[in-house]
Amino acid sequence: MKILIVGTGYVGTTTGLIFCEMGHQVTGLDLDDRKIKALQAGKLHFYEPGLEDLLSKHFTAQNIIFTKNAKSAIEENDLIFICVGTPQGEDGSADLTYVKSVAESISIYMNRYKVIVTKSTVPVGTANLVTKWIKESQDEQIPFDVVSNPEFLREGSALYDALNPDRIVIGTTSETASKLMRELYQNFPCPIIETNPKASEMIKYAANSFLAMKISYINELARVCDDLKINVKDVSKGVGLDHRIGPHFLKAGMGYGGSCFPKDVNALIQIAKENGKPLSILESVVQVNEGQPRYFIDKMKRALGGDLKNKIIAVLGLAFKANTDDTRESPSLNLIDRLKVEQAKVKVHDPIVKMTGRSDQFPVIEETVVDADALVICTDWDEYKNLDWESLKLLMKQPYIFDGRNMLDKGILESLGFHYVGVANH
Ligand code: UGA
Repeated sequence: MKILIVGTGYVGTTTGLIFCEMGHQVTGLDLDDRKIKALQAGKLHFYEPGLEDLLSKHFTAQNIIFTKNAKSAIEENDLIFICVGTPQGEDGSADLTYVKSVAESISIYMNRYKVIVTKSTVPVGTANLVTKWIKESQDEQIPFDVVSNPEFLREGSALYDALNPDRIVIGTTSETASKLMRELYQNFPCPIIETNPKASEMIKYAANSFLAMKISYINELARVCDDLKINVKDVSKGVGLDHRIGPHFLKAGMGYGGSCFPKDVNALIQIAKENGKPLSILESVVQVNEGQPRYFIDKMKRALGGDLKNKIIAVLGLAFKANTDDTRESPSLNLIDRLKVEQAKVKVHDPIVKMTGRSDQFPVIEETVVDADALVICTDWDEYKNLDWESLKLLMKQPYIFDGRNMLDKGILESLGFHYVGVANH
């Protein structure tokens, strides 16, 4: 098949390359010159393990091309995936400006029947809106179908997730589009669920919100476990082995971040409110998540003698989780802001993220911890697991470790003379 991917972010680029792997011919369209130039040079404009090798493979084999030319891209491809961003608007709902502008371009350049697929996370009813937008700006009516086909891949493991999905959701009422989509996904060994577009759109929000709810649940439970001196990791394990609950997304920490959970939970809350059926459970999920860095700071303050004023705090990790350079809604940045409010002096490190304008960022961990009163683990990078703690301790002013990811070995650190504080990691 000849497939057009509109929007070359991590969802669009990964999806396009997966389709190349399945033997299809892909065009990536984006209006951002910087992204297109990078991709045309075979380079990713974001960090995602394994993806650049796949890009180089398919780019060299000419299975994928990148362009800014919407006219020819739309004219030449009959299966079009919309993968543009849907950022959070001021009231918490998703902003559909980019989706609308893609729909309008499609309607202008549509030359024959097209199947238009929304892969971006979009509010319930967007497939209908896309249909309306296209029809409204079409001079002459050309037939087309709109399908909702949400994506469930995670940053950091995008390639694996896209190749091994738990399920594929196809939301359409058109038999022609359904047949085409089933053919497209025929080699994926997972269930394919067909629904109407609205249910498909809801499935995506419901899934992300449910996962966020698991995280907030374990984080709030961790606060109780902390008081009761219970190790929350034991609780997660014991609870997660119940197959009705499952072991995933039960890691207590600093709260969820990233470009998806915070935005999507808020968007679903907004959808529910607009329909007069508030989702109070999700409102609590957000509240717990926002409180988690504050909870952690309070623990730090108590351990360090009551306040953080002029204390030097080495923060390890800026990304919202490991294996990505994405800092959007990162709990780490939230913690850093709060540390500054407490008048602490912050030094930061991240193996991949290089933030412009951050004079307090250091290229190596050793430099970051020099004279530090405490070290805080904010991102679960593997390389923070087995550091040379004995040497690091000699560089620090005080041997305090705050493990916001519960990923270090408390026993070993304490035997080396560190004061270790995790999130109910007793
Ligand atoms: C999430 C979903 O997991 C994907 O299925 C979905 O496709 C994607 O959003 C999206 O909508 O595009 P992602 O945001 O890349 O993926 O990252 P996750 O791995 O889900 O992690 C989200 C946040 O939760 C991170 O800050 C992570 O550290 C945190 N987390 C995760 C926890 O605090 N505890 C856990 O047990 C798991």
